[in-house]
Amino acid sequence: MDERILCKKLKDKIMLPEEALKFIKPSMVIATSGFTPSGYPKAIPLALKNKIEKTGEKFELTLITGASVGDELDGALSRVGAIAKRYAYQTNDAIRNSINSGKIKYQDMHLSHVGQWLNYGFFGKIDIAIIEACMITENGGIVPTTSVGISPQAIKNADMVIVEINTTQPLELKGCHDIYMVKNPPNREPIPLKNPEDRIGTYYIPCDSEKIVAIVKCDIPDKTRDLVPEDEDSKKISQHIIKFFESEVEQGRLPKNLFPLQSGVGSVANAIFKGLVESQFENLSCYTEVIQDSMLDLIDAGKIRIISGTSFTPSEKGLKRLLDNIEHYTKYCILRPQEISNNPILARQLGVISMNTAIEVDIYGHVNSSMIMGSKMMNGIGGSGDFTRNAYISIFTTVSTAKKGLVSSIVPMVSHVDHTEHDVQIVVTEQGLADLRGLSAKERALSIINNCAHPDYKKQLLDYLERATSKTGGHEPHIIHEALSWHDKFIKTGSMK
Ligand code: COA
Repeated sequence: MDERILCKKLKDKIMLPEEALKFIKPSMVIATSGFTPSGYPKAIPLALKNKIEKTGEKFELTLITGASVGDELDGALSRVGAIAKRYAYQTNDAIRNSINSGKIKYQDMHLSHVGQWLNYGFFGKIDIAIIEACMITENGGIVPTTSVGISPQAIKNADMVIVEINTTQPLELKGCHDIYMVKNPPNREPIPLKNPEDRIGTYYIPCDSEKIVAIVKCDIPDKTRDLVPEDEDSKKISQHIIKFFESEVEQGRLPKNLFPLQSGVGSVANAIFKGLVESQFENLSCYTEVIQDSMLDLIDAGKIRIISGTSFTPSEKGLKRLLDNIEHYTKYCILRPQEISNNPILARQLGVISMNTAIEVDIYGHVNSSMIMGSKMMNGIGGSGDFTRNAYISIFTTVSTAKKGLVSSIVPMVSHVDHTEHDVQIVVTEQGLADLRGLSAKERALSIINNCAHPDYKKQLLDYLERATSKTGGHEPHIIHEALSWHDKFIKTGSMK
């Protein structure tokens, strides 16, 4: 620990996680580090879970994180019923079930908002920040690990800070982060970032060392998610997108090295980046949230100049690859607070090309990214809204059917709206690509149905559009009682067919 805690006066704050629990009271508001299952605290939440199991003490915590965190935090604490309220994104089965059964109150938020809400006081008083760190500098500055997320704002606004020094995280991460804090209005200034590679802040998060009440050691590595294998549908989606990029370059609407790319995670995202490795594109850049395995492939292929994100989100194998070659990869990677990585102003300024995944898309181009059949929370909107509305080109991908073909992902009306027709420019399924730019509502409907819908549902969708147009008319024709009957049918019969 000596080489990791350089601030001498903090050495007497080192204690066991069980001892640090004395600072955590049952109804506190806690903000933590972590973004995707990377860089989140593990030792303290596991110690708290053990204490609750042993004593039966009741906890009703409010938990605020940058995005999803690992099972040691979300899973462990939700299984013992310790979380009453949760912001702002999750992907954990246990917490998702508690949200959908009403045991946990959940607000799904744009991820760029979370840091500034902490600064604005919109979450109320923050009692404790629990932050995973790689090291603490001489002046008490905190060097994060594999993610930055909301850590700077959590530290700034919390009454107390508990630091988990994770000894499995390499010290070479030092220098990979770029911490820049945005001031609140009316003192906000333009963010001086012109290119994804610009460094505008410090390598550590400034922290008033008086606020640090405990430092605990943790030797549990990040439990990252397995890589979703690339399937035929993802490959086809990737091919449609690469062809689209080539055509945009040909028409002079994109430069040869494209604009900074943003992408969600998963099979399609991996396939797209794999496609880019094999493509003619070079000197690429990413301005995104998460740095995933396929982006490391781009680095190794010499195709990318810089990847700016807020977290490393590799698979287990990818994490080993990253940590074993940390000095090599960090030359190409910058981790920023999510307020900067997901900043809508910067997305527009840099001309980001956003690529996110939809659960379903409707014929007019509205996108549902977060709710299953209108009612059940899947994960949340994440950063997709931060980028989509402000992107140079906004792309949504989805496989044209779900649930073994019994659900069409192209529907007359989405059962929940995350992204509106005004924000969505390109829709891609394995069937093809619909370019919605400049199209009227009815033109959009025909383009989406003809290019993106699965053949099993095309006739049904065209028939709906035709009847809605002749019966109801209007700019965006709908037969309202029928528009959501597709979902209703699936809920009642198990099939949309
Ligand atoms: N209707 C009903 N259910 C559907 C569906 C549809 N049209 N499409 C997918 N589903 C279900 C799947 O069956 C699956 O359910 P299961 O877990 O019970 O099997 C679940 O939704 C997830 O589907 P999957 O194909 O595994 O999704 P994915 O891993 O590709 O993730 C999203 C897709 C949309 C859930 C995910 O990308 C997400 O959370 N996006 C929002 C946040 C975001 O965009 N983040 C990135 C911004 S930087």
